[in-house]
Amino acid sequence: MKYEKEIARRRTFAIISHPDAGKTTLTEKLLLFGGAIQVAGAVKSNKIKKHATSDFMEIERQRGISVATSVMSFEYKNILVNLLDTPGHKDFAEDTYRTLTAVDSVILVIDSVNGVEEQTRRLMEVCRMRDTPVIVFINKMDRDGKYPFDLVDEIEKELNIQLHPLSWPINMGKEFKGVYNLYDKSLLLFTPNQKSDEDNSLQIPDIYDKLLDEKVGERDVKQLREDVELLEGVYGALDKEDYRAGKVAPVFFGSAVNNFGVKELLDTFIQIAPEPLGRDTDKRYVDPQEDKFTGFIFKIHANLDPRHRDRIAFLRVCSGKFQRNTFYKHTRIDKDLRFSNPYSFMAREKEIIEDAYPGDVVGLFDTGQFKIGDTLTQGEMMQFTGIPTFSPEIFKELVNKDPMKTKQLEKGISQLTDEGVAQLFTQHGGNRKIIGCVGELQFEVIQYRLLQEYGASCAFMPLSFYKACWITGDKKKLEDFVRFKQQNIMTDKDGNLVYLAQSEWFLNTERQNNPDIEFHFTSEFKTQKNN
Ligand code: G4P
Repeated sequence: MKYEKEIARRRTFAIISHPDAGKTTLTEKLLLFGGAIQVAGAVKSNKIKKHATSDFMEIERQRGISVATSVMSFEYKNILVNLLDTPGHKDFAEDTYRTLTAVDSVILVIDSVNGVEEQTRRLMEVCRMRDTPVIVFINKMDRDGKYPFDLVDEIEKELNIQLHPLSWPINMGKEFKGVYNLYDKSLLLFTPNQKSDEDNSLQIPDIYDKLLDEKVGERDVKQLREDVELLEGVYGALDKEDYRAGKVAPVFFGSAVNNFGVKELLDTFIQIAPEPLGRDTDKRYVDPQEDKFTGFIFKIHANLDPRHRDRIAFLRVCSGKFQRNTFYKHTRIDKDLRFSNPYSFMAREKEIIEDAYPGDVVGLFDTGQFKIGDTLTQGEMMQFTGIPTFSPEIFKELVNKDPMKTKQLEKGISQLTDEGVAQLFTQHGGNRKIIGCVGELQFEVIQYRLLQEYGASCAFMPLSFYKACWITGDKKKLEDFVRFKQQNIMTDKDGNLVYLAQSEWFLNTERQNNPDIEFHFTSEFKTQKNN
């Protein structure tokens, strides 16, 4: 347990939300608290604006900028907080899902007016696969949103998670007065545009204290007392272990843009959020306290500038100590590699680092040797698991427009899919190639990059498939199924069999008709639960 102290002072997490709920604003306020940025507005360039949705170059340019803010590290009350950024645009949702494999907990932002939205649901599904601990921040309390009890109800039902309010609002919208913090028994009064270093909280250990009447007013104090009594009766004290096991999600109310409730969120976060956690491999569980270094690649970012073809691979350190200029085993290709310029991300500055500890994220220059999920160790041959690929939602056939450049096209598509830009499926027993993505934009990105970086010209022919399912089961039954459904059977890049379903109806019918075959919605079958 050489690095116990370093591990104990780290918290690695991500903020997730449906676009526009306030993720960027909250990120910025947390960075202000952590002293990582000095002025509001510094994080804005990271956000992909709505009007840019048709312009993928602009989006990629902004993603380029976002490399610098992919990991934002700051110190707060002696805790080193690593905040991993996730793209706001839904077409890049896969990036977000993968980033979630590298964090130990998340803060989920929900807009009090809109409640649970489409992206909120999908992100939570991914969190649930790994039982990631979640703290919910209900934002925009300065607007007339849904009634708090209704919101709690809606979130519990829609996201299928038990909530535990740790703060409770006093009114909302124009009448919003603040929140009562049930965790440390204090009252936080709302003032619009509160400064980050202002502390407006008053300790009120007993909700029947006269001070509360004075501060909140007769009408609202009555309601607050009723609410708090009800909440304390229903929820009691927070069980930290239930939160850490992903069973219960603490809830805070606030207004990020007004800097309200953010400090309470951060203070509680550093107290309850888990330290860097261990991870499973195909051989054994790796404990972060182990002396020997291990880590995995969860994201690869290419440089779109044709003069700089380098890519950056993001490594999450899982155990031991990562050191610069030291040879590590790249287990998939059984090769020893060493990195002379690994860097960390301190707010917007890239810094070459000498070492890193569990929970840290290191940027490694990649000349094409990495793909998502690759593992580095001090020699032990194993591979981290739990970094699955999800079923794409849009499928198109890849058409080669320049037969003279077939080799370049194959190489290009292979490398781009290693990066996780899209998934490649090849017709089983044939050569037809189908690309699957989460968003339309990725097809534009692929077409552009194939031409710019590989000189290969391609087109995409739309296909009407609904989902890709990895299939396993009894050998004979599988062979029969593959023969009957030839048109719909593909193999992924690792040679696994994949069934492309035309619609939900087809999929359900095939599942019913073939009880001996298992249909999986992610590429990693063993860790799957909700299937
Ligand atoms: P996102 O990253 O989740 O997509 O959301 P972002 O933080 O960009 O916030 C979306 C919009 O919501 C922004 O307004 C932001 O100012 C606003 N917002 C964030 N927190 C609050 C809050 O507590 N109360 C209210 N009323 N609004 C909030 P915008 O007009 O889209 O952008 P901007 O022009 O303000 O940058």
